[in-house]
Amino acid sequence: MKAKIKVGIVGSKFAADFHAFSYRRNPTVEIAAAAAIDNLEPFAQKWNIPRTYADYQEMLAKEDLDLVSVCVPNFLHHDVVLAAARAGKHVFCEKPLATSVADAREMVAACRKAGVLLFYGEDWVFAPALRRTEEIIREGALGRVLYVKAKECHNGTHSPYAKDKQKCGGGCLIHLAIHPLGWILHLLGNGGQNPVVEVFGKCNGGLADNYVHKGNGGEDFAVGILKFAQGEHAFIEGNYITVGGMDDKVEIYGSEGNLKADLTFGSPLRVYSRPGYAYAIEKTDNTLGWTFPAVDEFLNLGYVDELAYAVDCVREKRSPQYGCSGELGLACVEIIAALYQANETGKLVRGRWI
Ligand SMILES: NC(=O)c1ccc[n+]([C@@H]2O[C@H](COP(=O)([O-])OP(=O)(O)OC[C@H]3O[C@@H](n4cnc5c(N)ncnc54)[C@H](O)[C@@H]3O)[C@@H](O)[C@H]2O)c1
Repeated sequence: MKAKIKVGIVGSKFAADFHAFSYRRNPTVEIAAAAAIDNLEPFAQKWNIPRTYADYQEMLAKEDLDLVSVCVPNFLHHDVVLAAARAGKHVFCEKPLATSVADAREMVAACRKAGVLLFYGEDWVFAPALRRTEEIIREGALGRVLYVKAKECHNGTHSPYAKDKQKCGGGCLIHLAIHPLGWILHLLGNGGQNPVVEVFGKCNGGLADNYVHKGNGGEDFAVGILKFAQGEHAFIEGNYITVGGMDDKVEIYGSEGNLKADLTFGSPLRVYSRPGYAYAIEKTDNTLGWTFPAVDEFLNLGYVDELAYAVDCVREKRSPQYGCSGELGLACVEIIAALYQANETGKLVRGRWI
């Protein structure tokens, strides 16, 4: 087993920041290099990254990396993952795996062919509150799970790329609702044995049809209903019309009980402030009056542990579990595509997605 692995990060902003934060907490990781087209020097200085590249291909060619973090806009995931696989590097790709089903399939196949591990970054799978949720469910506390309802919602993306429908692959359905989707597949999918067999989706149409974000090409409101082969239903939601901070919530209804989880407003802190302060939780626009600041936000959203898990897999040469695999990322992209199709046609879409 390798004592320490070398990591390269492609990207330098929001997601790259929580990757660097997570790697810095891990004594078995050396962040060797970063590549991006802007913000590179401030990012490298903040995290003390020794070498930087304006071209990620050059980084892949010159650096002896064990793992590459893909923290670039959605439409570039495909090219960067393929390049990393060609260079023989294991790769951790942020959500969504790709902007199209064809790209996502090609990425999974390319990594398999190159013999490199492909990790899909669904951080909810590693969020401590949801891991405890899973333990409680697996223990049988809720009886048979019948229905899961989950959402990620906030007041709009910070990334200019994500406002562009082509570069994002859609709007808040693919960009936000993919979190509850990935987690629910992990929870109910039984490692691929309990596929999703029916879906229906409804979203705003983007631009003038949006409620608030008239400049976004993709939708600012989206919901989806899924049915699993063993009969469970799930309701997922993503929207950009939720002010007051990122709202990530889960409700689970079982034959013997129910459970509610709050990933973002569940802080042990209650603060009342007249002048306000720097930061409370992701996507809040002020900190006046009563607030509930996040405590160790990157840990509690699952980032620290998802990356620690990937690093351990690379060190121990072990394939990722279903919830963190390229296959789960591919299933998410396929289901999102089916939800968009249902929204377009107004008809239920049937299939077999694992
Ligand atoms: N898991 C999560 O909760 C989560 C949260 C935020 C973002 N993300 C994902 O992370 C990815 C990045 O999002 P973000 O919010 O950091 O975006 P961002 O707009 O803040 O940053 C984009 C980054 O990509 C880099 N970039 C753009 N084109 C490039 C190129 N050709 N070569 C190299 N670098 C290039 C830019 O330099 C920048 O650093 C997205 O896929 C997003 O969905 C995931």
